[in-house]
Amino acid sequence: MTILSAPSTHLPPIGKIQTYSAEDLTKAVHYLRLIYNPDVRGIRRVDLVSSLKHGSHPSPDPNLDALRSDAFERSYAIRWLTALIAQVYRLLECDCSDDDDASYDAAGETSELEVLLQQASTLLAICAGTASAGTITRTFHFHNSDEPIEIQLTDVPLENQDYTSVGAQTWGSACLLAEMLVEDPEVFGLGSPPEDLRVLELGAGTGLVSIALGKLLSAKGHSASSVVATDFHPSVLANLKSNIAANFPHTSPCPISISSHALDWAKFPALQERPAPFNEPFDLIFGADIIYEVEHARWIKSCAEKLLRKPDVSSTWVHSRARFHLIIPLRPTHTLESSTVETVFPFSARSSGAEQLVILSKDVTVCEASGDVRSRSGAAAEVEYVHYAIGWDS
Ligand SMILES: C[S@@+](CC[C@H](N)C(=O)[O-])C[C@H]1O[C@@H](n2cnc3c(N)ncnc32)[C@H](O)[C@@H]1O
Repeated sequence: MTILSAPSTHLPPIGKIQTYSAEDLTKAVHYLRLIYNPDVRGIRRVDLVSSLKHGSHPSPDPNLDALRSDAFERSYAIRWLTALIAQVYRLLECDCSDDDDASYDAAGETSELEVLLQQASTLLAICAGTASAGTITRTFHFHNSDEPIEIQLTDVPLENQDYTSVGAQTWGSACLLAEMLVEDPEVFGLGSPPEDLRVLELGAGTGLVSIALGKLLSAKGHSASSVVATDFHPSVLANLKSNIAANFPHTSPCPISISSHALDWAKFPALQERPAPFNEPFDLIFGADIIYEVEHARWIKSCAEKLLRKPDVSSTWVHSRARFHLIIPLRPTHTLESSTVETVFPFSARSSGAEQLVILSKDVTVCEASGDVRSRSGAAAEVEYVHYAIGWDS
């Protein structure tokens, strides 16, 4: 395991930045990113990335949270980045004044410096702009043949190591599900022609899946659709609301409705009266990484039974297309909890024939585990995710 050391001991000294090559400085900026703007665990699908590997990534450092919240190290990183940016500006100015006899190599070096400048400025904004240490804002880019989808997402620190506030951070399952949704919407029944859909997310956390759905449905012209992102933890809900607002600002008109609401899986099924927006069924339900206690699968099944649209021939959204898409990581530490999905939801062929929720398909995706900073399962090289498509058996 590579232990990340403090920026003040690892980075080239501020006074000697000008003596380092652009390549070394780029490496130093990447190092700072590992601390202040890391990737989310397990989001690079192995079959897509095997040809892109450039050597090994550092393994997770258990002291990373402490390092990130160290005010001295953060202010050192800010000073270092400021000095670096000033130096890169000086170099770029020299390049411009020598423009007439600029060779191909010089042009290449200029673009390398511009990339370095851009990366260092972004990181400086992240380090300097976060009100509380540990807050991370990332930009996610997802692509399909239509519009690219860009999402700004903020993770906030876990509350005093409160285990129940895990949704304050973005997990690999949400990244993978959002990527799959945007890359292949047909798999999730989001093809053409556009229909007006009611979509629900359970345990939405920072909201990546719901926000990706909102942007996808808007781009695909499902104009009267609604996305309801739910969670139960107060600080997670506050961050979810703020992430939705950041991605759907009031200033730009949004064709679909997207909102956040409290929904506790343990309590919801017993409610006598279901308040709006839960008083009508949903065409699609999504859940990413929401099975990690033994009761979760049972609670979630009860919620889905109450909330997933039932077979209804009068609906344009025929019952065979109403689905609950669940994606979970197979954590070696949580094999019992993960196995409860298949105990609680039978496979379609094994079902009793009564109208009930069954697993219609099960697909496994393997992702690289690099970039993890808060694994509960150790430093495995790869993470397996299972995608269950669940629907009504008839
Ligand atoms: C591991 S996080 C996953 C968050 C998000 N889906 C993602 O993948 O980034 C689990 C989520 O389930 C939520 N959760 C846990 N127990 C819950 C309950 N009883 N009712 C509603 N949400 C719950 C947590 O607050 C958290 O947001």
